[in-house]
Amino acid sequence: MIDTNTTAHGKWSSRYAYILAATGSAVGLGNIWKFPYITGENGGGAFVLVYLACVLVIGIPIMMAETMLGRRSQRNPIEAMEILTKEANADSHWHYLGWMGVIAGLLILSYYSVVAGWASAYILKAFTGSFVDADASAIKTLYADFISSPIQLIFWHTLFMLATMYIVVKGVKNGLEKAVQYLMPALFVLMFLLVAYAMTTNSYFQGLHFLFTPDFSKLTSNSVLTAMGHAFFTLSLGMGAIMVYGSYLPKDVSISKTVFMIAGADTIVALLAGIAIFPIVFANNLHPSSGPGLIFETLPIAFGAMTGGWLMGILFFIMLSVAALTSSISLIEPAVAWLVENRGFTREKACIWSGGVTWLLGLGTVFSFNVWSDFKVFDRSIFQLLDYLTANLMLPIGGFCIAIFAGWIMSPKHSEAELDMPIAQGYQAWKLLVSYVAPAAVFFVFLHVIGVL
Ligand code: PFF
Repeated sequence: MIDTNTTAHGKWSSRYAYILAATGSAVGLGNIWKFPYITGENGGGAFVLVYLACVLVIGIPIMMAETMLGRRSQRNPIEAMEILTKEANADSHWHYLGWMGVIAGLLILSYYSVVAGWASAYILKAFTGSFVDADASAIKTLYADFISSPIQLIFWHTLFMLATMYIVVKGVKNGLEKAVQYLMPALFVLMFLLVAYAMTTNSYFQGLHFLFTPDFSKLTSNSVLTAMGHAFFTLSLGMGAIMVYGSYLPKDVSISKTVFMIAGADTIVALLAGIAIFPIVFANNLHPSSGPGLIFETLPIAFGAMTGGWLMGILFFIMLSVAALTSSISLIEPAVAWLVENRGFTREKACIWSGGVTWLLGLGTVFSFNVWSDFKVFDRSIFQLLDYLTANLMLPIGGFCIAIFAGWIMSPKHSEAELDMPIAQGYQAWKLLVSYVAPAAVFFVFLHVIGVL
């Protein structure tokens, strides 16, 4: 593929770089940490089915819309919305959408970084042999002791935030892209090996049954909201991250094809994580609904028991940390791009400010797992509150507005030209989904949750 024809090579490498960056943003803790534990908390199969349906009819069309808005405007989300609003002669209030995205990104990063810190801490635990021959209760105690220590959590949260800020300041995209290029496929391989281990437990089919046999009696309206919110979260939608990446996308790349590839890869990683984890849960008499600690309480059991598990444990947590890092840079980028482009900050200063504020907010999440664990607002800890506010409310609202803007405000002439679908029916289908189906689905789920429906 790599030829000396600079134009062809340039195009190929740009498309490839975009796919890597966007997949890097999408695949992260959401797939491997969050998907399994929220599936466990929401009863399994029916939840998974709703999540998959949301990815298909809401996530994919909105991902195409968000990429398109970025590419058309070639700007950061706040400016993008200003420019596109002018182009469409629409009300200037749309730029608040960009604002909400910047704020949502920093709020998500504040807790994302804390959990990514756990993944990094577990590299060291794997390295020092903490999992070797440890049984389920020893692994549970290891996790409980770890999260009860604010000092340790702050240490790893700080380290992860510094790594994120360093990469965003340096713009060492090349280095990171290289890393992603090898680590992403390696992560796939490891996930398959974990699935192979799960097959050797005598609870493999129980795990599959839990994941893929829908029992709709277990589904509450809040589960449906969580599944929908997760479709946005896992695809990095509704807050401008994909818009920023779309703005770097060359004009001749097919948005629809790349979006399908990214969403497909993202979904496969999540399902593999589920298939690997639930058999281990059942084989060790653990509870599927044990919450955010689920992967930290299950996978180390597998690493401790399998041959070569010491090395696999180290590699797994390294890859999970890198996958988190490629997502975290996309969470902070809209804020940094805006501070640099509109407020005249240097990149360093922009990173220090946005990173500093996020780090401080993250302390709320750190303490919600230990010293402030009894502090609840609306029956939720600070971590749960931030997660609910961002994933279940802000991202779907952002996505809803993006769908309305792309479907109703932007001229069809512009959207059709920008999307440039291989077949005409493709555009019609997208238009139908983005103008009616996706916004209506988001709207009805909200109505249902507040009890109107
Ligand atoms: N998609 C990321 C994950 O699944 O881990 C999280 C994320 C990144 C959410 C970027 C939102 C975002 F804008």
